[in-house]
Amino acid sequence: MGLRMNSFIILMCLLNHLVACEPQCSKFDYEEKTLAKMIRTEILVEQLMSDIKQLKQQTNDAVTSMERMETEVGESIQSMYAENALKLEEYNNTIIKWKDRLEIKPNVVFLAKDPTTQSPSQDSTIIFGTTMYDVSQSYDNSSGTFTAPVAGVYAFTAQMCLNTGTYKYIHYAIVANDKEVSKSLTYNKDTRFCNTAQAFVVLEKGQTVYVSALSSSAVPLRENFSREWCTFSGILIR
Ligand SMILES: *[C@@H]1O[C@H](CO)[C@@H](O)[C@H](O)[C@H]1NC(C)=O
Ligand SMILES: *[C@@H]1O[C@H](CO)[C@@H](O)[C@H](O)[C@H]1NC(C)=O
Ligand SMILES: *[C@@H]1O[C@H](CO)[C@@H](O)[C@H](O)[C@H]1NC(C)=O
Repeated sequence: MGLRMNSFIILMCLLNHLVACEPQCSKFDYEEKTLAKMIRTEILVEQLMSDIKQLKQQTNDAVTSMERMETEVGESIQSMYAENALKLEEYNNTIIKWKDRLEIKPNVVFLAKDPTTQSPSQDSTIIFGTTMYDVSQSYDNSSGTFTAPVAGVYAFTAQMCLNTGTYKYIHYAIVANDKEVSKSLTYNKDTRFCNTAQAFVVLEKGQTVYVSALSSSAVPLRENFSREWCTFSGILIR
């Protein structure tokens, strides 16, 4: 009977313990689950942080490489510009060098006659008042001056015919760009006489050419005479 009683007490105790144990076990389970969840969350957060860090690094790398690319592109564009500028300058120089030759030049040719006076004074321009032709309108029959319309090589001729009478003479020159480039002297005692002066000259655009009377006798020139003409003519050769 004592043993049975003991067994009963033990059983009751056990039962009692079991009943009391129930909520304690459940709390433990909850905490365990929470802890596990927390650990998983922590792992996830760590993973996330690591991912973010990696992403940040990748972004930084991308920005750096983009910056490098930008610099490289900028440099190559700059060198392209420099190269092109050099080439342009080369072309420019070539064009300038050949421009003169490539230029289509106008026809320049004129002839004038009839000096406006038979007695040109010393160092005066002999003005040939009648323009026979002047395709480029470059000879001024009021001043006796030809003005080069373009740069080039020109030829000029002046012809002087002496007036009749004894000891007539005229000393004259073709003057191009303020320099005497051809001189002549007609001198004859009493026969009729003409001579010419010629010059080939290189002129820049705008430079002038005229015939200058250097010295002469009284009334040396023949004028408006059908057989002999005092003339001044010029032509652009090239
Ligand atoms: C070409 O030459 C001319 C005359 O020297 C100059 O005015 C012009 O600026 C030059 N152009 C270039 C692209 O070098
Ligand atoms: C003088 O030159 C002008 C213009 O070049 C021309 O119209 C005129 O006919 C010329 N005069 C003579 C007399 O040739
Ligand atoms: C030239 O002479 C002719 C006849 O001799 C005359 O009719 C003409 O007007 C003269 N011309 C000049 C420009 O003197």
